[in-house]
Parts: sequence; C-alpha cells; structure tokens
Amino acid sequence: MSTAKADDRPDKVTTRTVVDFKIKGEKISMITAYDYTMAKIVDHAGIDVILVGDSASNVMAGHETTLPITLDQMIYHTSCVVRGVDRALVVADLPFMSYQVTVKEALISAGRMMKEAGAHAVKLEGGASVCETIKRIVDAGIPVMGHLGLTPQSIYKFGTYKVRAKDDAEAEQLIKDAMALQEAGCFALVLEKIPAALATKVTKLLDIPTIGIGAGGECDGQVLVVHDMLGLTKDFHPRFIRRYHNLFDEMSNAVNAYVNDVKSGDFPSDQEQYN
Ligand code: KIV
Repeated sequence: MSTAKADDRPDKVTTRTVVDFKIKGEKISMITAYDYTMAKIVDHAGIDVILVGDSASNVMAGHETTLPITLDQMIYHTSCVVRGVDRALVVADLPFMSYQVTVKEALISAGRMMKEAGAHAVKLEGGASVCETIKRIVDAGIPVMGHLGLTPQSIYKFGTYKVRAKDDAEAEQLIKDAMALQEAGCFALVLEKIPAALATKVTKLLDIPTIGIGAGGECDGQVLVVHDMLGLTKDFHPRFIRRYHNLFDEMSNAVNAYVNDVKSGDFPSDQEQYN
C-alpha cells in the first residue's frame, strides 16, 4: 500500500521527474482519469502521472473500442482533468486518426491538446512508423510518451486483445521499435500486454522509463485504468488488473438505499429540510 500521501510528496511532477525516477530506481505510478472530480482524487492520493487515455471511449462513452473518440472529445476530457490537478503530470492520448495521416495534422493535434486542454504531454501509439511524427512534435517542444505492445487503436488489425509479441519475430520488432521511439525523443514508453520477460529486456535496454500494463513487475512504472482498479467496471477480468474496491456494487447499493428511502418517505428527515 502506497504511503505517498499529500504532505510528503515532491513538487510538481514533470517529464524530467519521471526520467529521474528511473535513474533513482523509484517506481512510477500512473492511472487514468477523464474528469475533474476523479483527477482531484487521484492527484490528492499521490499519483505521479495521470493519463487521459482514449479508454475514455470505452469507460466514459460506452463504445466497444477506442476508435470512435474524437480529438475534440479528448480535449474536453483533458481540460477537465487539468483543472483538478496540482501535482501530477497530465499526459493526454492523441486519438485514432488525429496523428496518422500527415505529420502536419499530428502537429496540429498535439498543439491543440497542449494549448486548448493544457496537457503537459501527449501519448501516441506505434513504433518506427510514427517516429518521424514524434520527432517533429518533440521539436515543437511537446513531450511525447510512446505506446507499444497491444495498441488498442490497431485492434481491427490484430483481431484480438490477446498478449502481443509472444513469438520471436514480433518480440524482436518490439525491441527495435522501443529503441526507435527513444531515439525519436519519447520521454517514456507504455508497454501493454506483452510477456514480462520481454518487458524486462526492453526496460533494461532503454534509458527512458517503461510503464507497464500487463507487462510484469520489472517495468519502471505501472498504469491501470481507474475504473478497473476501483471496480467500477464489472464484467472485465484480465489477469493484470488488481481491484482495490468493488465500487460498482458499493455505488449500486448506495443508490438502491436512496431509492428505498425516497419511496418509503424516510428521506428527507426533519433534519434534512428547512423550517
Ligand atoms: O487509453 C488508455 O487508458 C491507455 C492505457 C491502457 C495505457 O492507453
């Protein structure tokens, strides 16, 4: 259980801080958030990095994949999160098709995320094929986090959410991609759903930190979707999730108690009204 609560926390987390964490051997904690209230809670709890993930498409909007969410919607979610944060580094996902078509479009998307939403950095998916784009975004002064392994924006290419890079060829390609992303200027790299041994190898090879989700304990940091770790999602049970609460049932029970109190006339009581 973390003891990094409000008072003994270091100052604002920057991209430099997370790289320093790797150098010092301090693990990096990252979690998603998509709105002001949740951002305030996770920031207060001492999280280092908040990811405004395009998983908002799933957990906030109810889509089956991350593909439908738009840049405008991601800018809206990110601006809400930024207003709730004092300390954490806020990284925002660039959504599907906001950076793949041309480098110019990618620059405009990343720039909007910084200027309009107030993000501190952007994240985008892919390896060598997005390196030219990453270089140009970084050259413009915008920090970039990479994302390899299971990259959900490519789900229709993969055809499955199964573990990636289990065979030698894909593992070798992933290592090359990781090196290329570091070379292109990424300050950190998410590794999603790959064998732990491969994530360990990549983590040792790179100077920049790796942040794992379903990628084992040797990554420099860990990230989870906040709805999963709090148990707000009910029917999603991959082995890499640790549930710290069962908020679906707890909230449902609370609302059910409220319904019963209203129906029975128990709420409001004399103390809960004005005379
Ligand atoms: O969108 C997201 O939440 C992510 C994490 C799963 C890394 O990209």
